Amino acid sequence: MRILIIGGSGFLGAELVRQAAAAGHATAATFATKPGTVAATWHALDLRDSERAEAVVAEVDPQLIVNATSGGSDWAVTAEGPIRLAMAAARYGCRLVHVSSDAVFSGRRVHYDESCLPDPVTPYGAAKAAAETGIRLAYPDAVIARTSLIIGDWRSEHVRLVHDLVTGCRDGFLFTDDIRCPVHVIDLAAALLELGSGEANGVHHLGGADAVSRHELGTLIASRDGLDALQLPAGLRADSPVPGALDVRLNSRATQRKLHTTLRGARQFLAVGHSSPS
Ligand SMILES: NC(=O)c1ccc[n+]([C@@H]2O[C@H](COP(=O)([O-])OP(=O)(O)OC[C@H]3O[C@@H](n4cnc5c(N)ncnc54)[C@H](OP(=O)(O)O)[C@@H]3O)[C@@H](O)[C@H]2O)c1
Repeated sequence: MRILIIGGSGFLGAELVRQAAAAGHATAATFATKPGTVAATWHALDLRDSERAEAVVAEVDPQLIVNATSGGSDWAVTAEGPIRLAMAAARYGCRLVHVSSDAVFSGRRVHYDESCLPDPVTPYGAAKAAAETGIRLAYPDAVIARTSLIIGDWRSEHVRLVHDLVTGCRDGFLFTDDIRCPVHVIDLAAALLELGSGEANGVHHLGGADAVSRHELGTLIASRDGLDALQLPAGLRADSPVPGALDVRLNSRATQRKLHTTLRGARQFLAVGHSSPS
């Protein structure tokens, strides 16, 4: 299959490129600032350029596109760019998997399955929710895959934070009341490619099986990496001015039932001595 990974130079994107190429697919990928290091055909793409996404799709002529870009709260990158990409995918008749986030939820109802409508409380969550809505309308055959904190090696921002807090390179806290369902980057990439190669469409949830606090997650990461977890400062998000949802648990059971890939929980994939599938 010809696969195009949009945002292939990012953390998740690099794993998608690695797995797609390892499976023998003709793999092309995009970057915004610097091409990735994994072997693929690399194309420069800034989603703020309204013409460029369609030009790259036309040049690569992919059968599957996976969009793993992240533009934070930048509306043009996170909301508008993915919708333009979906319009191009629809025009060229290729499958599209768009990576979304649990940030589309406020946390008011805690447990969220695929039927739940977005109720974002941050600009980033609002941009992700806008992209979901636009993509569903522009290309109903697309897959929208919501995920949670993405964990792996030091390239994960969450792993880097834990290392920096333990070694004192950064100030801050890990909240004990901020709950998510972290997922391993290897499981997530495999699940996205599996959804893309099948006939699924619509909203899917790809969170890990365990709901853990940011502090428990940090403790698990520190223990895995041989760091002193007791050095991790704990705090309450409810007491902090940091905006965002407290407790968002993606219920991914319906999606998991469709997949061969297992979405392991953080307590499993971060267990000391546990090795990741390659
Ligand atoms: N990380 C998490 O814990 C988490 C949690 C929930 C959902 N997600 C979602 O998962 C996806 C992947 O996240 P990630 O952590 O792997 O992201 P990341 O490492 O920050 O990678 C972001 C990618 O987007 C590209 N990009 C940035 N600005 C762009 C622009 N203007 N035009 C086109 N491409 C642009 C980057 O290119 P360059 O590197 O070349 O600049 C990079 O390839 C995102 O959709 C994110 O919203 C992530």
